Parts: sequence; structure tokens; C-alpha cells
Amino acid sequence: MHNAAFAKLGLNWRYVAYEVDPANLRAAIEGARAMHFAGINLTVPHKILAMKMVDELDVSAKIWGAVNTIRFEGRTRKSQWLPLGQFEKETPTEVRSVGFNTDADGLTNSLREDFGVELSGKKVLLLGAGGAGRAAALKLAAENVGILFLVNRTFGKVLELQKEISVDFPSAYICPDYPRALENKIDLVINATSLGLKSDDELPFDKKQFSLKQAAAVYDMIYRPAETKLLKAAKKAGCKTANGLGMLLHQGAKAFEIWTGKRAPLAEMRRALVQNLKANP
Ligand code: ATR
Repeated sequence: MHNAAFAKLGLNWRYVAYEVDPANLRAAIEGARAMHFAGINLTVPHKILAMKMVDELDVSAKIWGAVNTIRFEGRTRKSQWLPLGQFEKETPTEVRSVGFNTDADGLTNSLREDFGVELSGKKVLLLGAGGAGRAAALKLAAENVGILFLVNRTFGKVLELQKEISVDFPSAYICPDYPRALENKIDLVINATSLGLKSDDELPFDKKQFSLKQAAAVYDMIYRPAETKLLKAAKKAGCKTANGLGMLLHQGAKAFEIWTGKRAPLAEMRRALVQNLKANP
């Protein structure tokens, strides 16, 4: 999606993927800095490690506690910091790395786009309290959801997260369990677990404790496969559904804007993503 966006804007830039062992993460970031990369995206398992490996943290990384985007900035002769991607002829006298997080906004932009709902006041069941689940829970609390039900295989993580949310967002109403009564209609269920990536995975919730008939809409952060067992079951139960493609797109668009300072060509990026996912289901 990034290369399609560069082509659309006529930028002579390239986005390339590297597999980096976590033990080499610092060296990889330093290498990219030395080579004057405009920036980096990071994914599992690097997002939390990178928090300690950048020179500066943008407020987004501080709030959501993870870095998925790094921007390299150079000091100009006038001693101002400017994104390296926006340097023209001048050579920077010094380069620093700044960590951002675009995942959290990516999720809420996608939820708004896919379901056309405002999150404020809504009842949400969030499945998963790992890296992705944690950032989603904090972001949903920041969006003033009415009540947030949190469920995770390892219950201790739910309690930790509940405590963390209550510090940053004291008015948030968190319930560390499934919504109980069948009449308790939930506006939105979000899967932030990794269950669904493999075809023989179980559903990410306990059918004895929750029924999809209780839910109006179901969002699965997984985008490959495009339709997980959860989304299939949700459709059957009459829920609106969406997969994580929109989240992937919007976090990418935001990173693109952070690096280039230009508006991301969303339609091009979406087209490239859909095409790629169709070719590699
Ligand atoms: P990510 O950064 O993608 O969120 P993660 O931090 O490893 O990755 O989190 C994975 C999530 O999927 C966690 O909520 C994890 O539950 P635990 O906290 O109990 O590990 C959940 N998960 C992974 N495999 C699971 C399984 N077999 N059953 C239930 N939950 C599972």
C-alpha cells in the first residue's frame, strides 16, 4: 500500500520489509538512522521493545505504550528538527529517531468507516489483552465508550489493564468479564486475540458465556484470512461484520503522513491492499 501511495504521489521512495530478530532491533534502528531512512514501521514483537530504543516519543506512543512507527528527523543548519523525508538538498547535521503509534487511531478510524458508528456511550466487548488488545482498550476508554467488557485467556492481564485504564481514564466503566444476561445487547465485539489466524483455531470467546446473538456488530482485527471463523459465525447470527483491513489501511495512511508530510492517497492504498490480499489469501 505504501509503494502504491509513493507511486501515486510521484515520490521516489520505496517501502521494503525486513525480518529482524528482537535481539537485533536496536542495531536495525541504528542502521536505518545511519542510512538516513525516512522512517520505519514495526510489528510484533517489536512494538514495546522499541519504546526504549528511540530518542523521543510522540504523545501517541506515550499514551498507547507502543511504537509501530518511527520517523527519523534531521537537524537543519538553523538547528530545527525536520523529518528526513522532507529534506531536499541540505544534509542534516544530526539525526534523531521519534516513535509514534498509529494503531490506535487506525482502529477507531476503521470502526467509524466500517460500521458508521460513534463509539461514545457504546457497549463494547473486547476479546484479548495482549499488545493489540491493550492499545485498543485504552483507545476505546479515551473515546468514552459507555461500558467496556474485557475478556482474556490470562485473567491477570485483564486486571492489570483495568488498573492501567483507571489511572489514565478514571471515568471509564470497565467490566472484567463477559456481559451476563442474554438481554444485555452489546453494540460491538472486537477480536484482538490471535485466534482466527489459523484455520483450526477455536472461536475467541466462550460460547457458554456469550452468544453472538447478543451483538449488533463484530470486528475482527485479523485480515488474513479475510473471513475468520468468528466473522462467519457473526454473519450467521445476523451481526454486521468487518475484518482488520481498514485498521491496517488507516494505521498505514497515518504513518505515510508522518513520514512524508503529505496527505495519504487512501483509495490507492486500499486498492493495493485488497489486490495483495486477494493474491495472497
Ligand atoms: P498482539 O500484539 O498481536 O496482541 P500478543 O500480545 O501475543 O499479540 O497477544 C495475543 C492475544 O491472543 C492475547 O490476548 C492472548 O491471550 P493471553 O494473554 O492469555 O496469552 C490471545 N491468545 C493467543 N492464543 C490464544 C489461545 N490459544 N486461546 C486464547 N487466547 C489466545
